[in-house]
Amino acid sequence: MDSDSKKRLAAEAAIDHVEAGSTIGVGTGSTVNHFIDALAKVKGKIDGAVSSSEASTARLKGHGIPVYDLNACGELGLYVDGADEATRHLHLIKGGGGALTREKIVAAASRKFVCIADDSKLVDVLGSFPLPVEVIPMARSYVARELLKRGGQPVLREDFVTDNGNLILDVHHLEILDPVALERDLNQIVGVVTNGLFAARPANLLLLGGEAGVRVVDGAGDS
Ligand code: A5P
Repeated sequence: MDSDSKKRLAAEAAIDHVEAGSTIGVGTGSTVNHFIDALAKVKGKIDGAVSSSEASTARLKGHGIPVYDLNACGELGLYVDGADEATRHLHLIKGGGGALTREKIVAAASRKFVCIADDSKLVDVLGSFPLPVEVIPMARSYVARELLKRGGQPVLREDFVTDNGNLILDVHHLEILDPVALERDLNQIVGVVTNGLFAARPANLLLLGGEAGVRVVDGAGDS
């Protein structure tokens, strides 16, 4: 089975978590695109969605799913999004698509975060995937120097501007043994908007598509 089929399996399994009449938080990426397509098949059941990127907004609207401003909604019941790496503790690296800040905002505003991915994303230690850090443009060089001091190798993402008008530094060679502490530390660097560690607010559930179907990781043990 190819990785795209595994992503689709995980995305379709997330539909079971969608409650009638609710507004769903929707992430970004190729796995989420499968989720949006699956959501379209049950769109009569939901009120609408809050989106984490212009790309997901366009896909949702293309399916005729109403997209709301987060400020017009209270707490969301469910957020569904992908990941670049995930651990058994449900800590994640996200932002490969550059939408990390809006993703982190919608995740924070949601009671339950269901993360969907193909099974290659499960790792023991985060950091093989370069950690995305969104940076205010004028702070780029300063933040890069601060990241070097912390043992990372920041690389400016070429020809890329976030939906918020900022830049991304992809930080290589980090071995992330304490994701909660590193997430907090990097967010203290002046000029950093946010970083792609989702550890202070981890996922609540990880659905991993694989050869044998969908594996559920809930932090307490697999099923
Ligand atoms: C987008 O900014 C990311 O956080 C994505 O959720 C992540 O990169 C996973 O993407 P895929 O589903 O395309 O693998």
